[in-house]
Amino acid sequence: MGVSAASYIAIKELDDILLIDIVENLPQGNALDLAHTASILGLNVDIRGSNDYRDMRGSDLIIVTAGFPRKPGMTREELVAKNAGIVVDIAKNISEYAPNSIVLLTTNPLDAMAYLMYKRLKFPREKVIGFSGVLDSGRLKYYASKKLGISTDGILAVVLGQHGENMFPVPRLSTVYGKPLTELLSKEEIEEVVKETVQAGATVTKLRGFSSDHAPGAGLAVMAESIKKDLKKVFLASVYLTGEYEVKDIVACVPVVLGKNGVEKIIELPLTEEEKKGFMGSVEAIKRNVEQIPKEFL
Ligand code: 2OP
Repeated sequence: MGVSAASYIAIKELDDILLIDIVENLPQGNALDLAHTASILGLNVDIRGSNDYRDMRGSDLIIVTAGFPRKPGMTREELVAKNAGIVVDIAKNISEYAPNSIVLLTTNPLDAMAYLMYKRLKFPREKVIGFSGVLDSGRLKYYASKKLGISTDGILAVVLGQHGENMFPVPRLSTVYGKPLTELLSKEEIEEVVKETVQAGATVTKLRGFSSDHAPGAGLAVMAESIKKDLKKVFLASVYLTGEYEVKDIVACVPVVLGKNGVEKIIELPLTEEEKKGFMGSVEAIKRNVEQIPKEFL
């Protein structure tokens, strides 16, 4: 996933790129391959690889894709114990070598790992962002576009809460130029689109034997672009909530404005009572994931 993100970031020429991995020579080899790619495409980026966290010094945006990915048949939630230790180790190195950076994380189970990263870094919450809703809403857009027979670019899709089996798609707030999907598709079609969206990650993993990286890589690049260029674009992303949506002390996916300072605004959507219940159910699932984090880490 990290190399995929680097590819899209290089194509956008956002900044120089450093790949870091614990596997000896792997990041150096990937970086060289990408540098050759940049040469062929005429991209003005410097791409390097390292096995040494100290080389993070001076970085203003750290994209963390480390961690065990799920295998076919696994849920993201089953990765808590294995990935929590990795997040703790990376947080220590970021705190030491890139203390003023913005951190964008994809490690699953995403919301719980972003919560752990936030707690370990002790950075302002604006600087710790979980990659979740860009992927899930992109998938909802895709499945809705297939049902509607229209291009995805006319669709705004809303998926809140957990990046996982208990994510909360909101069809009423997902629209085609303001017209809700609930007025464009039947109840059964909505249920199919929601089910396909929730299962999309597992479907990709089952089909190809390992989890997605192209879509997450592209999503990370568009979020990185809004931060690096201070575009103030609105994304669905996982952020530490301090009362928004009546939720405190948890990381969950909500609409946020991304700019040079990271999360510059959190947008509160007008949820119905039933939608609030759905969102809270998703938040409760995140809390259950957080409870599985070894106590010594929090
Ligand atoms: C996915 O949904 C890897 O969680 C990521 O594909």
